[in-house]
Amino acid sequence: MTGIRPLVAGNWKMNGLGSSLSELESLRARLETAPVPETNIMVCPPATLLSRAREAIKDSTIMLGAQDCNPLASGAHTGDISAEMLADAGATSVIVGHSERRHDHHESDALVHAKALAAYRAGMMAIICIGETEAQYREGKTLDVLRGQLEGSVPEGARAANTVVAYEPVWAIGTGLTPTPPEVAQVHGLIRSVLGQMLGDSEAGAMRLLYGGSVKPSNAANLLFVPDVNGALVGGASLKAEDFYEILSVYAGTQS
Ligand code: PGA
Repeated sequence: MTGIRPLVAGNWKMNGLGSSLSELESLRARLETAPVPETNIMVCPPATLLSRAREAIKDSTIMLGAQDCNPLASGAHTGDISAEMLADAGATSVIVGHSERRHDHHESDALVHAKALAAYRAGMMAIICIGETEAQYREGKTLDVLRGQLEGSVPEGARAANTVVAYEPVWAIGTGLTPTPPEVAQVHGLIRSVLGQMLGDSEAGAMRLLYGGSVKPSNAANLLFVPDVNGALVGGASLKAEDFYEILSVYAGTQS
């Protein structure tokens, strides 16, 4: 192990009703009987479930995250939710810059940067997502694209304690496709070195870099023990407690 405590975060996306909280209860029960020590476990349900999820995981080791925030603290922005509101509802982290938001809502790096700052302002950790599209991957532009996204999206105030970077190739999200472990190692190595240039080697060296995109029980061990991978951002497979537990339990027994 690298000394960095891994984080496995489940992103429920636009899925989940009150009845889905039973999955959180199952996850909690599973972790109580078979804990995975030295590993941070987080669930990011839709905003509508945050308050109830907070109750469901109260006094457990499961952390609560949100999926997006408006950069402003309050105001006339119908339908939007501020970082302060998410923190008030119980979230301690928020995903920003997910490729689905970059695509569906035309979010720019500058907006993602502002959202990360909003997370810090509200005392939350920002999980900043970056990733290349399939066309960019095929054209061999992955490293350039990621460098640009990091420089545009990660604020100067980013520290290992308040920021996690998630590499999620757009073509791997929800498709069942994944990069090879050597590709993931190369990309994560580049991310860490770009962050080193931006934030200094000590912050970059301690910052968690997650891999995301079609992580499942069947491939988790292959993807999560790649050098410079410090955990996963899991979409579809986080909706079922059993699958999510199987993924995060790759870390069971890895403590020194
Ligand atoms: P997936 O999604 O695991 O369903 O591919 C990952 C993500 O978008 O965070």
